[in-house]
Amino acid sequence: MPARIAGTGRYLPAKVLTNDELAQRVATSDEWIRTRTGIHQRHIAAANEQTSDLAVHAAREAIAAASMEPDDIDLIVVATATPDMIFPSTAAIVQDKLGIRHGGAAFDIAAVCSGFVYALSIAESMVSSGGARNALVIGAETYSRILDWSDRGTCVLFGDGAGAAVLVPAAEPGILTSHLHADGSHRHILCTPGTIQHGAIVGTPFVHMDGAAVFKFAVKVMADVAVETLAAAKLTPADVDWVIPHQANIRIMDATMKKLHLPEERLVVTVDRHGNTSAASIPMALDIAIRDGRIRRGQHVLLIGVGGGFTWGSVLIRW
Ligand code: COA
Repeated sequence: MPARIAGTGRYLPAKVLTNDELAQRVATSDEWIRTRTGIHQRHIAAANEQTSDLAVHAAREAIAAASMEPDDIDLIVVATATPDMIFPSTAAIVQDKLGIRHGGAAFDIAAVCSGFVYALSIAESMVSSGGARNALVIGAETYSRILDWSDRGTCVLFGDGAGAAVLVPAAEPGILTSHLHADGSHRHILCTPGTIQHGAIVGTPFVHMDGAAVFKFAVKVMADVAVETLAAAKLTPADVDWVIPHQANIRIMDATMKKLHLPEERLVVTVDRHGNTSAASIPMALDIAIRDGRIRRGQHVLLIGVGGGFTWGSVLIRW
């Protein structure tokens, strides 16, 4: 049976960090950050907020929007690169914090900024094959914990947040098709390479990035996978009502829209207010565009993810 999204939700931590505040910590400026990235501000989790806490807030909103109770959820997939701990999975912790006790499946996906697209695609397969009934798919991140706040090349780019969607079986397909890709040979251009060995951190536990290389790669694969997914549904870019790409940098998004010959009016943008929230960026942008009435029944919505790994993928939805 096909699957469709029955409800979405999001959560942003209360603390806002502006570009001007960042300029007091590192040699940067509001003007540099805005013109190179489109980012004006980002949210930062409180010291006592874990990734699972952000995820639970977003999940409760999505479950309520789907007119369900937490107990109705029998699969939880959390996409995150900033899990609460090495194990157990953040999804298992979310299940517990939601008070779900019936033993439904819960696991994490590690596909970095493509994580939500990966998670949605996998959950859709499980729901449509009957392996799960009501799936809760979450992208949640606390990148503020893995940033070197003295490195202006990375610390200005990221923020914290969570977005969630509830996926249910449906007579008509909501999720039309999806395509996922990875190429691990590019893993060094965007990574957090540190590991824990014998009680100590070996290697840097902070985000490391070759910004120019990431930029180039992202623009190419986002446009390519968009065309691949649309072709599989026998559609062209002109049939797309809304494009919701991973929100890393407004220039990457604009370049992708240009390659697809799509006007910027069809692009959903949140990077200005959220920064790059990795796996959380797409579900938060989706939730915003649904709640403010931009996305309407019958419209085609294209989600495009790209991130460390390198990973990339897209999901086409008929709303
Ligand atoms: N403030 C001021 N200057 C900064 C800066 C900051 N926050 N960060 C870097 N710089 C400096 C660099 O030190 C470098 O200086 P140099 O030329 O003296 O060495 C210069 O700015 C680089 O400028 P430029 O090459 O014009 O930057 P850019 O246009 O490539 O933009 C990024 C840099 C990081 C914004 C851009 O490469 C980018 O967005 N890449 C993709 C990042 C991304 O999206 N990552 C996540 C993907 S999931």
